[in-house]
Amino acid sequence: MSATTDNKRLTTRDIHALRRSGEKIAMLTAYDHVTAALVDQAGVEIILVGDSLGNVVLGYETTLPVTLDDMIRHAGAVYRGTTRAMVVCDLPFGTAKDPETALGSAIAVLQQTGCQAVKIEGGGAAAPIVARLVEQGIPVMAHIGLTPQAVHQLGGYYRHGKDAPAAQELIAAARELQKAGAFAIVLEFIVPEVAAEITLMLDIPTIGIGSGPDCAGQVLVINDLIGLNVGPVPGFAKPKADVAGIIRQAVGEYVAEVKAHPKEPSIG
Ligand code: KIV
Repeated sequence: MSATTDNKRLTTRDIHALRRSGEKIAMLTAYDHVTAALVDQAGVEIILVGDSLGNVVLGYETTLPVTLDDMIRHAGAVYRGTTRAMVVCDLPFGTAKDPETALGSAIAVLQQTGCQAVKIEGGGAAAPIVARLVEQGIPVMAHIGLTPQAVHQLGGYYRHGKDAPAAQELIAAARELQKAGAFAIVLEFIVPEVAAEITLMLDIPTIGIGSGPDCAGQVLVINDLIGLNVGPVPGFAKPKADVAGIIRQAVGEYVAEVKAHPKEPSIG
């Protein structure tokens, strides 16, 4: 039986088995109970409760205002909606700034939500933080390339690894994070050839977003996949539905139906 065909909840061992078998890993974000249940039923292997919660659900311009309490509330709802996918929760801005802070944040997430792992943004400098959590038995997904929590330092959202020194820095960071014990690594908006090279070099799976097809798996923000947005969608997302359009149409029909009902006698 393949690692993913029984009904048990997937673990890091199953994710590594997929990597070894060459089968691609499907990961999506979710932020609420119902969406998580549907995403789980549809067969993704990993659900990420991303701190994109800030932009997608809470209406912030960046992910920086998202708190650990925000993440814990939404991650708990997601976990309770799922039975099969592995559920990973982002540690938001400032909650993984050093190994001890990150350990406290990760313990709170695992104890209060049921999630099985945390994700931490950052390059090679995050390796000691990853190592501290792993030493305590907490699976960590790393995240390099475009790291939205560093948007002010980066000066915007753009593709990473465009010249040789930048590519070498990403490759070195990926190697250090694997050595520190990360069980997987997100490669966000990295030049596809660089992402492919990192994927070939590592034993742990790379999960790409906007980084080309040659990663071990892919992740998208669920709203970008299903067309549930009011703002711009990243070019690489290619929505497969127009849920925003369906909502507008259904609500429009409801409003028209309510208004079409004969008028009540006016009051006063
Ligand atoms: O917060 C998030 O949704 C993410 C994914 C885009 C990888 O970090």
